[in-house]
Amino acid sequence: MLSLFLGVNLRADLPPDLAIREFRTSDYDALIRLWDEAKLPYKPAGRDKRENICDEVKRSNAIFLVAEKNGGIIGSAFGTHDGRKGWINRVAVTPKWRRRGIAAQLVYAVERRFNAMGIGIIACLIEDWNVESMRFFEGIGYKRHRDIFYFTKRSKVDI
Ligand SMILES: CC(C)(COP(=O)(O)OP(=O)(O)OC[C@H]1O[C@@H](n2cnc3c(N)ncnc32)[C@H](O)[C@@H]1OP(=O)(O)O)[C@@H](O)C(=O)NCCC(=O)NCCS
Repeated sequence: MLSLFLGVNLRADLPPDLAIREFRTSDYDALIRLWDEAKLPYKPAGRDKRENICDEVKRSNAIFLVAEKNGGIIGSAFGTHDGRKGWINRVAVTPKWRRRGIAAQLVYAVERRFNAMGIGIIACLIEDWNVESMRFFEGIGYKRHRDIFYFTKRSKVDI
């Protein structure tokens, strides 16, 4: 039953009663608690402000998923696409439930939705200190590019 609900690549040690579902605006406070607990870098005064996330989730290119267990939010993965490429952001799992395959299930669920939209390239950006996250993405089949540098131009510092 769980495998039908969550999809492919299930691990035997996935926590029971885990649901991967769409983010709801009422989840916002729990989401921020999760990100704080997970020590995920995020922009509370910028992109990740309540109104921004609640607005962004309504857009057709947004795939904002959470992992719920016993009514609590224990994981998140956000996807957006620009029509050519899908981007994965804000992947986090509460420390107590790590290395049980939850982040993998979240990312696979975002990937399936991207693929269904015809988006065949999926990418993520990881800060150079975040070795754990690099190991995670490599562990689920992402290729690291050592020959690409990230350039941005921002209208505000905290955007
Ligand atoms: C990165 C993170 C989301 C991984 O969550 P998770 O649920 O523990 O990951 P999974 O259990 O799905 O891991 C899947 C595979 O990724 C790899 N992996 C995950 N974490 C790893 C680690 N710390 N070290 C080495 N490999 C790791 C493994 O191959 C793992 O499979 P295995 O357990 O069978 O060996 C979690 O560590 C986290 O929340 N980190 C802090 C927030 C953050 O920095 N997010 C990334 C922003 S880009």
